[in-house]
Amino acid sequence: MPKQYYLTTPIYYVNDVPHIGHAYTTLACDVLARFKRLDGFDVKFLTGTDEHGQKVAKSAEAAGVDPQTFTDRVSQNFRDLADLMNFSHDDFIRTTEPRHKKSVQDIWTRLIERDEIYLGSYAGWYAVRDEAFYTEDELTKNAEGKKIAPSGAEVEWVEEPSYFFRLSNWGDKLLKFYDEQPDFILPQTRRNEVTSFVSGGLQDLSVSRTTFDWGIPVPGDDKHIMYVWLDALTNYITGVGYPETETGEYAHYWPADLHMVGKDILRFHAVYWPAFLMAAELAPPKRVYAHGWWTNEGEKISKSLGNIIDPIDLVNKYGLDQVRYFLLREMPFGNDGDFSHTAIVTRMNSELANDYGNLAQRVLSMINKNCDDKVPEPGSFTSDDAKILDFIGNLISGVRQDMDRQAFNEVLEAIWVGVRMANAYVDHQAPWKLKKEDPARMATVLYVLAETIRHLAILTQPFMPDSSAAMLEQLSVAEDARTFAHLGPDHALVPGTALPAPQGVFPRFQEDEGGEEGA
Ligand code: MSP
Repeated sequence: MPKQYYLTTPIYYVNDVPHIGHAYTTLACDVLARFKRLDGFDVKFLTGTDEHGQKVAKSAEAAGVDPQTFTDRVSQNFRDLADLMNFSHDDFIRTTEPRHKKSVQDIWTRLIERDEIYLGSYAGWYAVRDEAFYTEDELTKNAEGKKIAPSGAEVEWVEEPSYFFRLSNWGDKLLKFYDEQPDFILPQTRRNEVTSFVSGGLQDLSVSRTTFDWGIPVPGDDKHIMYVWLDALTNYITGVGYPETETGEYAHYWPADLHMVGKDILRFHAVYWPAFLMAAELAPPKRVYAHGWWTNEGEKISKSLGNIIDPIDLVNKYGLDQVRYFLLREMPFGNDGDFSHTAIVTRMNSELANDYGNLAQRVLSMINKNCDDKVPEPGSFTSDDAKILDFIGNLISGVRQDMDRQAFNEVLEAIWVGVRMANAYVDHQAPWKLKKEDPARMATVLYVLAETIRHLAILTQPFMPDSSAAMLEQLSVAEDARTFAHLGPDHALVPGTALPAPQGVFPRFQEDEGGEEGA
């Protein structure tokens, strides 16, 4: 039986057009989902849109349409982004769907039944931009003298009847839980942030609002709508068929293996969400990973600065797999990073076009010209041959461990050690010289290289699905022979297999023409 792996992205607020930050979070999940599928797991990958709350209601009003019409329209932008980026999610959830309303009302009822929610009234500060409550001591003032939250969002005073979740009861249980699951919050630095927040003492959390109505009504008291974060977080169990817990997908996939989030929304996922679940007597997720933020040429990305990076522009300019590669290669996952034109062009040209693309192009053209367009017949392997084949055949074990820590940049770095080793091997063996001197040895060298490229292309599939497929096609590797189970000598290329004409896969970025050059 394959082992299951359930991972999720945050669900995106539909008040915004999709930008690089959204593409980044889902890309990381997509790479992980593809990796796990190739590694034999039964994967469920969920993404979607967060459509309720005051922030979305205000955006709809500003656009002059009712919230449902507005969310139908903007939610589509996120599905279009997913197509553009070649994301492989298994389900796309919208919080306005009936299945989700049922699920949220059910978890609410479980919390009421367990006396974890009570009716009171709220008087305090609220930031619509963050959809979050703040205490007085968390606030500072901006240049205009207005009170702002630590995120920079302006707050407003809110006073209304409200239901509260007894979060104050959960501090010790959360700390115990973090202790027992040391990898629940990654990276470790973020974990410390959360534990110190929880150790500082938790207050009960307001979980309903009465001053607007764009949300899911509280069962039995429909003057109240549920707090948008309780609504949104519950999507992760709606996606596996909750409230059905005994059979079906919930029984199969829950608890989730990974919630991928940005650092700004860690508290909701690592404090509130496990507390809600434990209070409802449902299992908490296994891991929350908080990644860093992108800046644009050194500047914070914001609508007001007008420097939003549109994924559509990036893909049109640099190419899809180039963008996918760059976003996960450029900075250690978990850290903040800077997007710049120079940085992406450098990586495209040196690592993709020169190191990887040229390697494949050189080898495949030599095979095409000198081996009758067929996988060459190798003789016996020298120790140099055995060394590279062995290295490349075993790369997966380290890569698998890096992937399980979400260390995407390290995975790519490890694969590129293989790429560079292959380039050094070509230079050293100089097959072009062997052509006259020792054609049998040339065939062995080209075979070793073709096998090396087969391995590299199988390993790069999660990051660059189309380009890797193009490479595997050029080696005539069948579509059902491209999983990680096909790594190693048992599934090696069969000498004599006919190969199609070689084509360049990673073009160089040509600055003068402002676009790509055909390879
Ligand atoms: N709707 C909530 C999430 C609810 S999950 C139950 C939300 N949505 S969001 O659309 O504002 O943000 C979604 C994700 O985009 C977050 O993980 C956030 O960190 C990420 N990013 C937004 N801007 C970003 C950058 N500039 N860089 C990297 N990621 C950033 O929060």
